[in-house]
Amino acid sequence: MGKDEILELKDKIDFQNLPKHIAIIMDGNGRWAKDRSLPRTSGHQEGMKRVVDIVEATNNLGVEYLSLYAFSTENWKRPKKEIDALMKILVFYIRNELDKIHKNNIKIKIMGDISLLPKVPRKEVEKAIEKTKNNSKMVLNIGLNYGSRDEIIRSIKNILEDVNLGKIDKDDINVELFSKYLYTKDIPDPDLLIRPSGELRLSNFMLYQIAYTELWFSDIYWPDFKEEYLYKAILDYQKRNRRFGGI
Ligand code: IPE
Ligand code: IPE
Ligand code: MG
Repeated sequence: MGKDEILELKDKIDFQNLPKHIAIIMDGNGRWAKDRSLPRTSGHQEGMKRVVDIVEATNNLGVEYLSLYAFSTENWKRPKKEIDALMKILVFYIRNELDKIHKNNIKIKIMGDISLLPKVPRKEVEKAIEKTKNNSKMVLNIGLNYGSRDEIIRSIKNILEDVNLGKIDKDDINVELFSKYLYTKDIPDPDLLIRPSGELRLSNFMLYQIAYTELWFSDIYWPDFKEEYLYKAILDYQKRNRRFGGI
């Protein structure tokens, strides 16, 4: 798609009806690489470039929250070589992009247990959170060692602990309170969930939060996910009629 066509697409977006929170399951890096007879890690490297592009595009649109699924609790099943490469790419991304992210007033948040990450990526991530903690234009919420089931069980344990401590009463537990115990406690539920790569599943991503999220699937592999697909997803979203169970 040419530059003019992309701008035309962008112009069609209704800024009064922008999704406040977009979540993306960044998938298809390995298959993108395989199609080119490249190692899977090349797909991850190219995928990282799309993270740069999409963070910039969403921030420019004025989207307030962007959640990106980068590494799941199940991704530890992959060969060590691939996990190491993914961690290196994460470190490279933060080292290269942190100044720009900070300058663009983006706040980095993490969902997932980062205490289980190797030391170097963990330190980089902690540095990024600390540096950007007072930023206010967009929240970039990254899923790292994130899994919904893990998150929900962790929340239940924390709720039980607070009940035992007398901080809350069992009868206080409701949908709102439960949300406050999730990693996303300060973040509204996603309005739009994007999954590229052709897979029609959620792979343990934000299961509690996406109860009423609009889903958008595409066959495009993540390394090919240029900004025009973001605009297409938003335009489709704007045609949807969200009823939340009403009429
Ligand atoms: C997404 O791409 C990146 C991560 C899950 C870390 P994949 O590596 O899952 O690529 P495919 O799905 O095998 O093509
Ligand atoms: C989901 O992709 C996880 C991330 C994008 C980080 P996967 O490639 O791990 O999911 P499955 O295995 O296809 O369900
Ligand atoms: Mg995959």
